[in-house]
Amino acid sequence: MNDNKIIIFDTTLRDGEQAPGCSLTVKEKIEIAKQLESLGVNVMEAGFPISSPGDFEAVKAIAKLMKKATICGLARCMPKDIDAAFNAVKYARHNRVHVFLATSPIHMKYKLKKTPAEVLKIAEWAVKYARKKIREVEFSAEDAGRSEKEFLYKVVETVIDAGATIVNIPDTVGYMTPYEFGKLIKDIRENVTNIDKAMISVHCHNDLGLAVANSLSAVKNGAGQVECTINGLGERAGNASLEEIVMAIATRKDYFQAVTSINTKEIYKTSRLVSKLTGVNVQPNKAIVGSNAFAHEAGIHQDGVMKKRTTYEIMKPEDIGIKGSNLVLGKHSGRHAFSSRLASLGYDLKQESIEKAFNRFKSLADKKKQVYDEDIVAIVEDEITEIPETYKLEYMHITSGTKTIPTGAVKLKYKGSIVQGASNGDGPVDACYKAIDKITKIKGKLLDYSLKAVTSGKDAVGEVTVLARFGKDVVSGRGASTDIVEASVKAYVNAINKVAFKKRKK
Ligand code: KIV
Ligand code: ZN
Repeated sequence: MNDNKIIIFDTTLRDGEQAPGCSLTVKEKIEIAKQLESLGVNVMEAGFPISSPGDFEAVKAIAKLMKKATICGLARCMPKDIDAAFNAVKYARHNRVHVFLATSPIHMKYKLKKTPAEVLKIAEWAVKYARKKIREVEFSAEDAGRSEKEFLYKVVETVIDAGATIVNIPDTVGYMTPYEFGKLIKDIRENVTNIDKAMISVHCHNDLGLAVANSLSAVKNGAGQVECTINGLGERAGNASLEEIVMAIATRKDYFQAVTSINTKEIYKTSRLVSKLTGVNVQPNKAIVGSNAFAHEAGIHQDGVMKKRTTYEIMKPEDIGIKGSNLVLGKHSGRHAFSSRLASLGYDLKQESIEKAFNRFKSLADKKKQVYDEDIVAIVEDEITEIPETYKLEYMHITSGTKTIPTGAVKLKYKGSIVQGASNGDGPVDACYKAIDKITKIKGKLLDYSLKAVTSGKDAVGEVTVLARFGKDVVSGRGASTDIVEASVKAYVNAINKVAFKKRKK
């Protein structure tokens, strides 16, 4: 029997970006879109074009650039939304407009203030209107999970008759359980007379931690498309995670009898990129892409894995693109070894960026005996983000202690000169941040701060991610160093540079 080909619809750039504090610039969205294309997603929901001029521009730019994936834009069932979505995706080789309307009693009554008959009419109208512009139209029955089945069948049948080529069944509030959701898909297949004329898609949220299980149950019951996001990013508890769905289908092919087009070796790199650009860290025990996902700590497990890997590993780290981190580079390693390591980690950098990263690597190797792949990834990711370094950390000095008021003095390079300032604060990091605010006259409010050791040991590289509000903008910043205060300062300066860059562009 032939395996079913499951369409992977990635909505990291739309639903994923709706996660609190996750907004991305147009440039960042394009960077992620390029990586999603390398990953091999079939459909990319690049944004919600009517929601802002920035979103419109991002969808349009992505539509122009992508060669393989279908580019999709979201729209409410309104002419201006559908027009905007179409005008943004029309440049793509393959394109789709995705319209949605709620069909659950609670959404229709309280949110839409419409009767079911009115909803049915609007849905039919919207699909017909979109179909006049574009061949591929997806209709989503928002909150399908809590909709009355008979009404849902009617809606699905009506939109297919109106020309929808894909009907999406979202569990918008993550309410369903795997058995129920699988049954819903089966029931739709059995009760909607024209269902053979469209593909069934599913879109599950993770409020009860069941998004992936529900999506997989739907696949088992005939869904042809799954909507998901990298790292499970998305509204509230997030969406179904792409990497978990794809690896479940690949690892349990015997059970699902299905395949996807995803190049699984690009999963890890994509996860890192999305985490870096959104500023949302991946929890260590996250399936597939968490830092502990392939780490064996218990002696019995280590012993088993050494005797035969498959005793405790159902997937290989290499399957998702994690290269072994045992090859140790040190201070005696030269440019050649360093750049071939970069290539094997999947980085294709310009000579200038390699040089910069190499210099950083050398100074790290002077401080650390062994430089691991994770150290190199942290250095490179820090180096290749092409935000101009308007401000560059030149020097910092802190005083701190149990009976001392913490102070921080910072010197930054700005337009070829050194600008400096000092402040006290609640701790050395806070003191330095206040000093930087004084120097740059850009005042930030720290919303989130996280520190992660990217390697183990006393001389590990610490990676700091900050999320800060500067006026209306919320931006993330990252910095890496063996000194955690320095990493913290670099992360904040990186965020300030993004703000300065945005200001200049305006
Ligand atoms: O969760 C949801 O219902 C959605 C729709 C717009 C598909 O995101
Ligand atoms: Zn959603």
